[in-house]
Amino acid sequence: MAAIKKVAVLGGSGNLGPHVVNGLLDAGFEVTVITRLESQATFTDKVTVKRIDITSKEAVESVLQGHDALVSTISPAAVGDQKTIIDAAVAAKVRRFLPSEFGVDTRRTEEKSLGWILANKLSVTDYLAEVAKKNPWFSWTGLAVGLFFDWGIKTQFLLGINAKDKTGTIVDSGNKPYAATHVSFIGEAVAAILKKPEETANKYLSIFSFAITQNEVLKIFEEETGSKFQITQLKGSELIKAATDSVAKGDYGNSVVPFVQYTFLADDSKDPVDIGKNDADLLGIKDNLSLRESIKKELSEI
Ligand SMILES: NC(=O)c1ccc[n+]([C@@H]2O[C@H](COP(=O)([O-])OP(=O)(O)OC[C@H]3O[C@@H](n4cnc5c(N)ncnc54)[C@H](OP(=O)(O)O)[C@@H]3O)[C@@H](O)[C@H]2O)c1
Repeated sequence: MAAIKKVAVLGGSGNLGPHVVNGLLDAGFEVTVITRLESQATFTDKVTVKRIDITSKEAVESVLQGHDALVSTISPAAVGDQKTIIDAAVAAKVRRFLPSEFGVDTRRTEEKSLGWILANKLSVTDYLAEVAKKNPWFSWTGLAVGLFFDWGIKTQFLLGINAKDKTGTIVDSGNKPYAATHVSFIGEAVAAILKKPEETANKYLSIFSFAITQNEVLKIFEEETGSKFQITQLKGSELIKAATDSVAKGDYGNSVVPFVQYTFLADDSKDPVDIGKNDADLLGIKDNLSLRESIKKELSEI
């Protein structure tokens, strides 16, 4: 398989996108960012920026001409819209597509009916598999990464730690190991996938910086701040009930947080990322930032 050199990134301005763009640039890829007409996003002058109507197959196909790969880090709100982008990529003869996955392993997670984002992601990877079957020159790679660790601490999203207020939440026993990844390591992993196109073709991979428990994270926060955090205890059963009730009311937006917290942190949920197998080994990459060093870094920035 010929080397991948020129890569387009869709959604390169969000929470994850800039880290993927940086990972690709650091690895020497030529990068084009595709952004929406209405977007106010700005980008480093090291990339080519194409501001287009991303709902138009023709417009996307036109900017994708000459690219070897497309990485989508599109917003969860728009993951279901990626089929048009896939059709445009195929028409432009883009050889590799990485869909906006970057969370749970959507091919492994149970309770699929509750996660509307998950259901959309799953139908996109199913579609990619179909398209790859019809077009042997085309391939895809899905990447699960667990919870974004540093981003989750910064935004106090999902991880249940508020370092500023010294408060936290613990789901069930707090001893369930879960996969978590630094966002810069995701960028490195995306670049490593594209450097190894044969080994990574038509596969779903999982990487993580570490597999940790809520109690381990809390202990380090308390040790490093010299403070006892005030903890609110949550029950996995109540989280899944809250998610189920939201979905029953058609309120999908409010089902996301309790659903994801349950999936990763509850004692009885099936690991949504297989922590027994880290594909960082296959990709030949390693995250050298330890859990304690990572927490110290986050604390130094608040
Ligand atoms: N595992 C985790 O802990 C975790 C956490 C967060 C996200 N994720 C996953 O990572 C992926 C990227 O998420 P993200 O949080 O980085 O996305 P985001 O910041 O919400 O959006 C990324 C970009 O998508 C583009 N976009 C296209 N259509 C859009 C629309 N209808 N609404 C909003 N933005 C739109 C925008 O780029 P332009 O303005 O340049 O067009 C936006 O900056 C998703 O698959 C998400 O599920 C995982």
